Amino acid sequence: MSDDLHESLRENVRILGDNLGQTIASDMGKDFLAKIERIRALAKDGRREGSDERKELIDYLRRLPESELLPVTRAFNQFLNLANLAEQHYRTRARRVEDYRPGSQPEMGELLERIHQKGHDAQAIIRAFEEMRVELVLTAHPTEVVRRTLIQKYDAIDECLTLLEQATDHPELETRVSSRLTELVSQAWHTDEIRKERPTPVDEARWGFAVIENSLWQAVPEFYRDLDNRLLELAGERLPLDASPLRFASWMGGDRDGNPNVTASVTREVLLLGRWMAADLYARDLLQLKRELSMWKATSALRAETGDVAEPYRELLRRLLHRVEETRDWAKARLDGKPFTPSVAVIETREQLFAPLLLCYRSLCDCGLHTIANGALLDTLRRVACFGVTLTKLDVRQESSRHSEALDELTEHLGLGHYLDWDEAQRQRFLLEELTSKRPLVPPHWQCSEPTREVLDTFEVVASEPKEALGSYVISMAGQPSDVLAVALLMKEYGGSVKLPISPLFETLDDLDRASSVVDTLLGFEAYRAVIDDRQEVMIGYSDSAKDAGQLAAAWAQYRAQETLVEVCKAQGVSLTLFHGRGGTVGRGGGPAHAAILSQPPGSVNGSLRVTEQGEMIRFKFGQPGIAVRSMEIYACAVLEASLLPPPKPKQHWRDEMDTLARCAHEVYRSVVREDPSFVPYFRAVTPETALSRLPLGSRPAKRRQDGGVETLRAIPWIFAWTQTRLMLPAWLGSGEAFRQRADSAEGLGVLREMMEQWPFFGTYVDMLEMLLAKADVDITAYYEQRLVDEPLLRALGEKLRTRFTELVDVLLEIREQDQLLEHAPLIRQAIEVRNPYLDPLHGVQAELLQRNRNADGAISSELSRALMVSMAGIAAGLRNTG
Ligand code: PGA
Repeated sequence: MSDDLHESLRENVRILGDNLGQTIASDMGKDFLAKIERIRALAKDGRREGSDERKELIDYLRRLPESELLPVTRAFNQFLNLANLAEQHYRTRARRVEDYRPGSQPEMGELLERIHQKGHDAQAIIRAFEEMRVELVLTAHPTEVVRRTLIQKYDAIDECLTLLEQATDHPELETRVSSRLTELVSQAWHTDEIRKERPTPVDEARWGFAVIENSLWQAVPEFYRDLDNRLLELAGERLPLDASPLRFASWMGGDRDGNPNVTASVTREVLLLGRWMAADLYARDLLQLKRELSMWKATSALRAETGDVAEPYRELLRRLLHRVEETRDWAKARLDGKPFTPSVAVIETREQLFAPLLLCYRSLCDCGLHTIANGALLDTLRRVACFGVTLTKLDVRQESSRHSEALDELTEHLGLGHYLDWDEAQRQRFLLEELTSKRPLVPPHWQCSEPTREVLDTFEVVASEPKEALGSYVISMAGQPSDVLAVALLMKEYGGSVKLPISPLFETLDDLDRASSVVDTLLGFEAYRAVIDDRQEVMIGYSDSAKDAGQLAAAWAQYRAQETLVEVCKAQGVSLTLFHGRGGTVGRGGGPAHAAILSQPPGSVNGSLRVTEQGEMIRFKFGQPGIAVRSMEIYACAVLEASLLPPPKPKQHWRDEMDTLARCAHEVYRSVVREDPSFVPYFRAVTPETALSRLPLGSRPAKRRQDGGVETLRAIPWIFAWTQTRLMLPAWLGSGEAFRQRADSAEGLGVLREMMEQWPFFGTYVDMLEMLLAKADVDITAYYEQRLVDEPLLRALGEKLRTRFTELVDVLLEIREQDQLLEHAPLIRQAIEVRNPYLDPLHGVQAELLQRNRNADGAISSELSRALMVSMAGIAAGLRNTG
């Protein structure tokens, strides 16, 4: 990275900070701005070793008049968001998407060279891309704290920064852009950063489609252009036109797990919305192509379609455009509940769009007009291959118990007894028999309960929608073969066949340990094999398993589950696609895509992979075209590398070591989280868990069951709460003891270091842990405790936890042979350090407000309640992670 670039980051932070300062001064007065400056200075000095300013900062914040708490919180929150923006801008320029292990991200050219040298010829590489099936699944997980309207303003500010960099010799332009930037910063300041209402699932889906419209629509053809150029250089050919190694799927409007707002009619609406948006976008492409392709040279094949006209391409495109416009208008009318009879058949399949465009393409090439064929027309063909006619494939997700409960009601109604009372063998017998039966199971017009109706209606939607529109049917909290058979049966019941891949999601430690035997049993059933076309998808749940067992034990269980699933499927002759349910934060399996993919067991990637992309990660990785192109490249490279140059198989003594580490870490985690009676009260007292559920981030509730305790809290608010107090406990608790018991012997230390260096799985685990520890800050945790916890037992637990944390840092540094965390990733260390003086005041205000809220039994003024929410959003922004 050049110094210039670094300098430009600093300069942009300064420009944005100055603008915000001026805006605040003109809104609230110079004296108020001076207070902000004073708080910032105290926070900065408070970070110096042995300084008293931290206490001064806290006193200063506590003395602020109530009316100033909100604007102070907002000021720091907005600054952190602007700093993120500048950093994101910098990364786009540096082609760096993710903020860990700079330098380790692959370059396509370098990777292809390496693969080539390892004996794979150019054709093998092309075939690998042709067969590659990577699906990036955009989900509506409530982890994006920044409102859409602010994201749009930030995007516009980002454009201003780009223009300013280009305007050095154009003073008029510079002046114009600068004042636009000032205007946008002011707009942001005068906009409420907290939504007033929760988004609906349809709002969430609209947002997902907007990412496609504003970023991916442009990024996808650019990515393919870059890839083609590489392949042309390497093999003299492009990627086949209909190949699409990367595609997008979505959960927005399809994921009903624990979200009563996602209903069958919502899913239908979102599917229609996708078709409408797709038709609208293609219509714009086709209009441009019609304008541009005015050539007369054409093949007889094309002329046979268009007849003898002067401009055959235009003629064909005119017809296609008409059909696409009719499709668009038809979908819109249906969305609006209005009648509409299209004058031509609406477009239903990718092929209907692809074929005429391909005819044009071939004709241009055959007439020697390659340059024209490979221009905008090729871009549209790439879009059709990637986005189809629905933009994304919509997955459905439902919790396993909802299917069992529906079946229970049904068997009861049919006089067969209670499905829920049957043991697993009895359930399997029933389901397998019904799966092969020709007679319908669900009586027509059956008057069932509302929850069962909803489950069944969803199967009706699956049955009636075009296959291309749908992705997989994911079963959360899956644990038994019957969970999968139940879905297969209901899908067959409504659609006559098992239309979609069924993906059991294994997400507790026990379920992960059992995953391969469950799948093995399933694949052994003839009736099941008959309906799955020798393909099986399995989803691995990263966050719930970590919540259940602690991060280290969960990571090892995930690894082993994948390994054995690969073996089982291979032995059964079935091709396996693993679907990784990873969140953005380390505690939820987050981390750089490249490292994550290459740290999986050998053979588990093999050309196909699905992975979730959630909340703020969608913005960070795909929110802007430049960065989206780079993210796609990283995925494509990682999957190619993991498929053609798989990581090494772990040595037996590494496996033994992991067994020991995981066992110890799990025990410690359990002994605290499950067995210490002070733990839940401590969690409740010290973190803003209850206040968090008021943040209207997404359409779904924070808990699976409203009446349940911490165990029903979803993984996102669980991690979110620990992040706010900077203890980040779930991601590390137990690892310190596990490492310590090994690091004390020279032999143990040697093995740990060997694993760290030679085994990508373990190396990545330690890298992520180190980054997380660097983001944590137990002094801040101690402050929350001091303000919010009176009970001596809880205080003692807090102290113990903080000691465990410090001991973990010590042992990690010892293993790493480092003096400080992130010694080899200075960029990230700096990014954290720069943000700390802005985060500290937010923590100070938050702890204060939590206390006032508690004293007032939750009845603080709406202004203070807003300040509390802004503090949560600000801390999440400062750490670039929510939950
Ligand atoms: P889930 O996801 O609660 O939707 O299963 C958890 C996560 O992504 O962390």
